[in-house]
Amino acid sequence: GAMVGVALLLAHGLLPCASEVDSGDFPENFLFGTSTSAYQIEGGYLEGNKGLSNWDVFTHKSGTIQDGSNGDTADDHYHHYMEDINLMHSLGVDSYRFSIAWARILPNGRFGKVNPDGVAFYNAIIDALLQKGMQPFATIYHHDIPHELDKRYGGWQSLEIQKDFGYYADVCFKMFDDRVKFWTTFNEPNLSVKLSYMYGRYAPGHCSKPFGNCAFGNSSVEPYIAGHNIVLSHAKAVRIYRKKYQAKQGGHIGITVCSRWYEPFRNTTADILAVERVLSFNGPWFLDPIFLGDYPLEMRKILGSKLPQFTSKQKKRLQATKLDFIGLNHYTTSYLKDCIFSTCELDPVEGEARVLTSGERDGILIGKRTGSPFFYTVPYGMEKLVMYYKQRYNNTPMYITENGYAQANNSSMTTKDFTNDTGRVDYIQGYLSFLASAIRKGADVRGYFVWSLIDNFEWSSGYTQRFGLYHVDYKTQKRTPKLSAKWYSEFLKGSPLKM
Ligand code: NOJ
Repeated sequence: GAMVGVALLLAHGLLPCASEVDSGDFPENFLFGTSTSAYQIEGGYLEGNKGLSNWDVFTHKSGTIQDGSNGDTADDHYHHYMEDINLMHSLGVDSYRFSIAWARILPNGRFGKVNPDGVAFYNAIIDALLQKGMQPFATIYHHDIPHELDKRYGGWQSLEIQKDFGYYADVCFKMFDDRVKFWTTFNEPNLSVKLSYMYGRYAPGHCSKPFGNCAFGNSSVEPYIAGHNIVLSHAKAVRIYRKKYQAKQGGHIGITVCSRWYEPFRNTTADILAVERVLSFNGPWFLDPIFLGDYPLEMRKILGSKLPQFTSKQKKRLQATKLDFIGLNHYTTSYLKDCIFSTCELDPVEGEARVLTSGERDGILIGKRTGSPFFYTVPYGMEKLVMYYKQRYNNTPMYITENGYAQANNSSMTTKDFTNDTGRVDYIQGYLSFLASAIRKGADVRGYFVWSLIDNFEWSSGYTQRFGLYHVDYKTQKRTPKLSAKWYSEFLKGSPLKM
């Protein structure tokens, strides 16, 4: 009786407290790390001859960011990078996932020169990491594009961007590939193009009705044009890497996508089909073209001519590109409701379905609340999502490039309150144990990165959310370890704190 009961609860991931997990449950050479991105932490937005980026311009327009803030200074990582690298070293991580700011390297894109100060900044980071025994895991594009390219030709809306991205990636490889063994071309384009061109929340703040405020532009095809240019830009960078660098240096290149896991809201065929459909509107939007030569059929059926076509030459080249690994960003699980066979009281969000962000079914929450109104702690989602990608892409090696927990930045809370982040410890522990379970079932997962090392600028949410293992006091730039930092370092040492 009781044993079967517990087994059932485990199978459904409903065990009230997270199960024990040990770093020994992961394969040898597995990379444990922490993750950040340039615009969210660096600051120094006018320093070192950097060019302006789309985000510098966007955040300086009024009404774009929830708390009216920007990343001009952020965590001032531009001046504190050594301290931050030391924090990682003391945590005992194997690897650091960071992104390179395009406008630091090429202030005017391919229309200007390579900026030696920008190159020197990332050289210093890479060298310090290696010196302390940590692998640099570099993202080439994490949402920030030189403003010059937006000005000249409308950024991701133009074919021109493919030339610029190829040029930029080539410069990154040329400068850093002798030391960087892990590259990802893009960070979660499946979400960023929607936030930029559908919901109006990311630069340049365009939207497609009925979503977003449409203050800066409105079109229903822009998300798919941007996506198309990203797929082709990615392929171009990978071709350059394979041809000129990989054989010499022996590194790995991939792309990072993000996805929730979904559970059908009702136990109906319609909602079960909606889950399948909407999963393919996430990562497969970008991964299907790369692995299989075209967009998912489910997308084509619903979007019709809004979705651009690949020429047969492009399809062949895409499939020849392949990937060394898939990066996955995963945070939460939501209920999903079909909007094709059922009426939806609100407009469908994607794939003719509605994500029920309330997280509630029959008055019961899908998981514990986090500090973000849309994210719940649902550890089993990690295993289900990983198994989905394993199956769809023939067990291509995977890295969990982001997983993390938000605290709401409540102004009445003190540093001490924030550092007592038991919710985050529960979250990370739970997700890691379901990741270990996916690996036991044969998934080829090779790394896991916590988002994030330090609290930082959360895009259109500004500083209202804190994702760090370390608390940042933005007035003094003081970093303070949270309980989760202690937990992670004990876990990495192989002596997990019992919570
Ligand atoms: C995804 C993004 O890559 C990152 O920039 C963001 O801060 C986190 N997830 C948290 O939302």
